[in-house]
Amino acid sequence: MDRRPIGVFDSGLGGLTAMREFIRLMPGEELVYFGDTGRVPYGGRSRDTIIQYARQDVAFLRTFDPKAIVIACGTASTTALNTLRVENTIPIFGVVDPAAAAAAAATRNKQVGLIGTKASIRSGAYEMAISRYDPDIQVTALACPLLVPLVENGRFRPGDKVVELVVEEYMAPMKAAGVDTLVLGCTHYPLLREVIARSLGDQVTLIDTGAACARAVCTELEEGGLLTDRPAPGRRRYYTSDDAGDFSALAALFLGAETGLAAERVNIASY
Ligand code: DGL
Repeated sequence: MDRRPIGVFDSGLGGLTAMREFIRLMPGEELVYFGDTGRVPYGGRSRDTIIQYARQDVAFLRTFDPKAIVIACGTASTTALNTLRVENTIPIFGVVDPAAAAAAAATRNKQVGLIGTKASIRSGAYEMAISRYDPDIQVTALACPLLVPLVENGRFRPGDKVVELVVEEYMAPMKAAGVDTLVLGCTHYPLLREVIARSLGDQVTLIDTGAACARAVCTELEEGGLLTDRPAPGRRRYYTSDDAGDFSALAALFLGAETGLAAERVNIASY
């Protein structure tokens, strides 16, 4: 048993889709979330900058003495995970490997699609992880830079013509490749699940990276005897690097049911 909190971070609000799954699977765990809304998006930045930002995010979360840190950000997971693991003694989890395992298990025709930010696609990390599970799987990868700004502006609902048009264009190469599984390789994309599903049809399995990561972390902590023995609900704290009021208002969209969410602003550049 380990009563210390789990630290979770993302470049912004998207990681709350993973947080939602953590709350569902491990309701007794104490969770500390940091969303770097002051510096989002990470996805178009250089490798060095992403690593530097991720280091500061981890340094901030480590002030809570966490038992593990989860990178609930596709971009930071693909680009900074290895560096962060070398530099830290506590377990650090990313979204890539759990999503790759889920995709390899789901595909029947070995044609897997992958969408993510520019940095995530540039890293090749998802392809490498998928090929470790099954080298015969063909991956059709596409950077989708327009999707994060749309979601951040609350534009993700079915029936929204702009969103549907953009998604339709991004899904064209996936349809051409005949993918039967699509990895939603960015934490914002689960909000677009319905629009993407309508475009691709029911026969394509969509892999939510944050949810896959939460399941993997839960299993690993359980096997290591590291889950808390505290009764639910565990304490949840939210931190942001920009306006706390804006964060609280938008967080509800990503978290679903949770209400009354209070956030605190931190100066992340000082870590
Ligand atoms: N959180 C990022 C990811 O999952 C998306 C937003 C960004 O570009 O920072 O890749």
